[in-house]
Amino acid sequence: MSLEDDFNDVIAKAMCGLGIGVSALADDSGIAPFEIEALLGGAMDKTAARAISPTLGLDAAALIALTGYHPERIAFPGVRRIKLPFGNWNVNAWEVNIDGVCLLFDAGFGARDVMGKVSPHGLKALLITHSHPDHIGGVAALAASGVRVISETEALAAGKFVFGPLELKAVDLSGHCTPSTGYFVNGLGRQLLIAGDAIFAGSMGGCKSREAHNLASHTLRAALANASADCIILPGHGPATTLAEELRSNPFHPRFNPNSDIDGKVRLDLS
Ligand SMILES: [Fe+2]
Repeated sequence: MSLEDDFNDVIAKAMCGLGIGVSALADDSGIAPFEIEALLGGAMDKTAARAISPTLGLDAAALIALTGYHPERIAFPGVRRIKLPFGNWNVNAWEVNIDGVCLLFDAGFGARDVMGKVSPHGLKALLITHSHPDHIGGVAALAASGVRVISETEALAAGKFVFGPLELKAVDLSGHCTPSTGYFVNGLGRQLLIAGDAIFAGSMGGCKSREAHNLASHTLRAALANASADCIILPGHGPATTLAEELRSNPFHPRFNPNSDIDGKVRLDLS
């Protein structure tokens, strides 16, 4: 069960999100540019990884350990990961089907791929986390089959939904994409969070600007502040995980941990 991102992807995402190039990162962290290039090329050097992590707001130990990180396999009755093709990659849709209530979160990239794996009959609603093309490919086809589609904007405006035993709370997870909506599912004995691309096991969705990266960190941190520690996170890419595991093993956790002092850990000005 491979993660969405390797350690070098995490470094590249952090650099892109903070708008830091190789030479600025080298200057700030006191190592040579070629050492950063080597890390970006996938060659782990623990000393170099430790040197750049404070500037990038990353947990160095988690970054170094990422190659060996595999979240515990989670089997939650009624929850199905629907792994769909997206070019050379994959994207997740999540089906929650409990006590006769079936909800689908996100709709993949190719309409035919989604329709081949999801039955629209009995589907109470399709809820969207964000409108990147790899998450909405099947929207039109499912809507044409009579499925109620709830957009990320509509969900945020409504705030809460009740479908039989399922209580959904929509939360703002903007940043990677704005708007983005996460869905806490309560009423199952264990909390679920359908997170879109706000967080992955061991990483976060990429951001194209410092403003977006900061927004992603702050919205995720605010959302997670009210989550239970054993909350199961169902991300838009890669395997399911838990909040407790991500607070230990996700290199980005200093940026989204509700208990962290983000400004105290990141040397560069993040305003
Ligand atoms: Fe996305």
